[in-house]
Amino acid sequence: MSLVEWIKLPALGDERGSLVVAESNINVPFAIERIYYIFNTQKDTPRGFHAHYDLKQVAICLSGSCRIVLDDGQRKDEVWLDSPTKGLVIDTRVWHEMHEFSEDCILLVLASAHYSEADYIRDYDKFLEVVNG
Ligand code: TYD
Repeated sequence: MSLVEWIKLPALGDERGSLVVAESNINVPFAIERIYYIFNTQKDTPRGFHAHYDLKQVAICLSGSCRIVLDDGQRKDEVWLDSPTKGLVIDTRVWHEMHEFSEDCILLVLASAHYSEADYIRDYDKFLEVVNG
């Protein structure tokens, strides 16, 4: 099964422009406790390279584009985030990498918990041990 799961973020548009809504436990599959956003990135400087024990996240590219790699220790999927109406679910225990940021990329992330460094798995071999035993 694919690791790529999208949430519905339809644009409520009229002649004034577009509006997108993200709501806890409605179209976002958890209660949002934190948001952060990434910008001023560089095309050749990837980010991420970690998984989380408990954190669930949704990533939305508000502007520009980037390529996301998802890996659960058994399979890898790769997807482009290139629209403010596409929300990608990053589940617990999924290794994720962000590559090829466009110059104008603004990546918004909705997260299910406050920041905790203890929740990170930053070493890939450790990640494989955690998910595959
Ligand atoms: P990190 O998660 O390593 O970023 P990325 O995976 O996008 O490369 O975070 C970068 C730095 O920011 C790191 O020092 C931790 C800090 N940070 C916080 O303090 N709070 C947060 O909510 C996040 C996401 C990061």
